[in-house]
Amino acid sequence: MKTTRDSKLTAELIGEETIEQRHLDTLLQVSRAIGTVLDRDQLIRQIIEQTTVAMNADRSTLFLHDAKRSQLYSRLAQGLEDWPRELRFRDDAGLAGHVFQTHQALIIGDTFEHPLFARDVAERTGYVPRSMLVVPITHRRDYCDGVLQVMDTETNVFTAADLALLEAIAVQVGISLDNARLYAAQKRQFDSFVHAFSTALDARDPVTQIHSINVANFAMGIATYLGMPRREREWLRVAGLLHDVGKIGTPEAILTKPGKLSDDEFAEMKQHAAHSREILSQIEFTEDYEQIAEIAAAHHEKLDGSGYPDGLAGDDLPLKARILCVADIFDALTQDRHYRKGMSIDKAFSIIDDMTPHQLDPACVHALKQFMGVVA
Ligand SMILES: [Fe+2]
Ligand SMILES: [Fe+2]
Repeated sequence: MKTTRDSKLTAELIGEETIEQRHLDTLLQVSRAIGTVLDRDQLIRQIIEQTTVAMNADRSTLFLHDAKRSQLYSRLAQGLEDWPRELRFRDDAGLAGHVFQTHQALIIGDTFEHPLFARDVAERTGYVPRSMLVVPITHRRDYCDGVLQVMDTETNVFTAADLALLEAIAVQVGISLDNARLYAAQKRQFDSFVHAFSTALDARDPVTQIHSINVANFAMGIATYLGMPRREREWLRVAGLLHDVGKIGTPEAILTKPGKLSDDEFAEMKQHAAHSREILSQIEFTEDYEQIAEIAAAHHEKLDGSGYPDGLAGDDLPLKARILCVADIFDALTQDRHYRKGMSIDKAFSIIDDMTPHQLDPACVHALKQFMGVVA
């Protein structure tokens, strides 16, 4: 690494073991830093930052392969603010293309002496590296994810030990990219399942067809104005889509009855909240969605204990359940029902105000008004 060379510390002075130990420490640090990140763009940013620090270089770039277009691309060229956000070129072009095609890493003491170095392109970016390490990301046999390169404006900066370290980092990068890909695929699968489930439910009743989507949106809007983090908002989106899933067991004659429900029919209708809990508790949600069955089932509970299915009151009613409750009532009031037309937003909020604060959480109601632009 540059520090090693700059400070003229040779293997003799600090000992081979020390250098190896230092590289191992660096590798562990990078692995730790990127190992837990699952969002792809965030992961790429982390890789670039961590690699630059680990190699004590000026800059690093990660080129990923776009198989459909046979191109290498980099979304973030670190430090090159004026450069287009996405850099693309053929996957056999330049140093990166050569490394990608051959799967052979390169250590370059002076780029000006390397025939594949595109000096004119570098000069146009305003950054001209002289030393480079370019390694393929080939943690899987016969497959290359892309190319990782580190650069410095001085010549002969990097050593063979640095190259070995970067190759080890590239293995970690490849594994992390695989994890991110797998996580994204699982998330897409989960999202499509939740959507299909809620669409199937809403389709049972053409009049209330988009109720689940609306409740999800209102719940996320309330959460936003309450300052809840993204993870909690995502939780509420899924809970909103699934909260009425228990209606799958409610007879259609009751669901779509044009007039007022009889007491018996209403009692039957109320069962859906408990059914939501029964159905959702059978799904093995990841810990990101823990308690979704309990809280989704509590969307008809009221702060004064007059709600159902359990008559929860006050502090026993979690914030997320209070949010779902307000979102659910607001959509029910403003959408058409079999027995009445949807109300205006003002009329709906005047009914909601009458239920606040003894039944509905005033902070949630206020946040919904902010989301709807009724108050500042
Ligand atoms: Fe409901
Ligand atoms: Fe509902």
